[in-house]
Amino acid sequence: MRTVLVTGAAGFIGSHLCEALLRRGDRVRGLDNFLTGRVDNVAHLGNGFELIEGSLLDADALRRACDGVDVIFHEAALPSVPRSVQDPGTSHTNNIDGTFALLEAARAVGVRRVVYAASSSAYGNQPGFPRVETMRPQPLSPYAVQKLAGELYLQSYAAVFPLETVSLRYFNIFGPRQAADSPYSGVMAKWIGQLLHGEQPTIFGDGEQGRDFTYIDNVVHANLLAADVPAERVSGRVFNIACGERHTLNEIFGVIARLLGTNLTAQHGPERSGDVRDSLADISAASEAFGYAPRVGFEEGLRRTVEWYQHTGAIR
Ligand code: UD1
Repeated sequence: MRTVLVTGAAGFIGSHLCEALLRRGDRVRGLDNFLTGRVDNVAHLGNGFELIEGSLLDADALRRACDGVDVIFHEAALPSVPRSVQDPGTSHTNNIDGTFALLEAARAVGVRRVVYAASSSAYGNQPGFPRVETMRPQPLSPYAVQKLAGELYLQSYAAVFPLETVSLRYFNIFGPRQAADSPYSGVMAKWIGQLLHGEQPTIFGDGEQGRDFTYIDNVVHANLLAADVPAERVSGRVFNIACGERHTLNEIFGVIARLLGTNLTAQHGPERSGDVRDSLADISAASEAFGYAPRVGFEEGLRRTVEWYQHTGAIR
């Protein structure tokens, strides 16, 4: 049985990953500082799961977390483009210093591989769709810079140390357990939460901006594949993880309202500073390197998500 570490284990993506790793028989250790994570997200995990409460910036907690670990899934981060515009310093410390500390700890204890949650925000607003990994990154927001800095560190560590690293550029992940109650929540969770509370959501800008919204199960699947494939196929590289479809905000608002059976409408507000206008991924590199293909499509994912917030999320 191998031991793996999931950083940000009590977060949205981390908790789903822990579930899948336990299901396939790994011994799973989680590290979370509960800045944005929730105990509820991991309370059901049971035997085989060990949780260490601590920060990436706490050297002692990090050493304990990495001890005896084969693969680290690095999901811990302070997400959100607008949060990073509001308070760049705090997200810089958590995202860049946190990732650097993790890589140093991984190297010190001889971890084999680190799989990293990178972000589609790296592409910025340059022309050319779909986004291909060979495009030059043009990060716009502090958050995009921070996530890209992490990628570059992983690339360097794979080149100069005996550590395998893989960066997965996530494209707007959504699904059950995504926090709905923060001004910095991802748009899907935020709107579903608002509509369930009878509040009117806001569309920032004209609503014609597009995203490659990707259901959580797809990103979990990609992580499991990227952790196991031979190093020569992936180490030191970056891969888009998405569905390969673009949906506008106006369109998703319509689908959510229909699924919830509400006739509330959205109001429009000013565009958000630091926002990318459009996003759409080419996913062929991940498909060729480790056989990634999305398993749950956009509509089905959204249906499952809305159902979860209606039946479980609302009563937590
Ligand atoms: C960005 C990254 C994504 C990353 C995420 C982490 C891009 C293309 N995507 O997502 O890979 O995982 O940061 O936080 O850079 N919006 C509204 N009303 C609201 C809330 C949001 O209209 O109440 C709009 C935003 O202005 C934006 C879109 O919805 O145009 C998506 O926003 P959000 O869910 O916050 O994600 P991104 O910033 O696109």
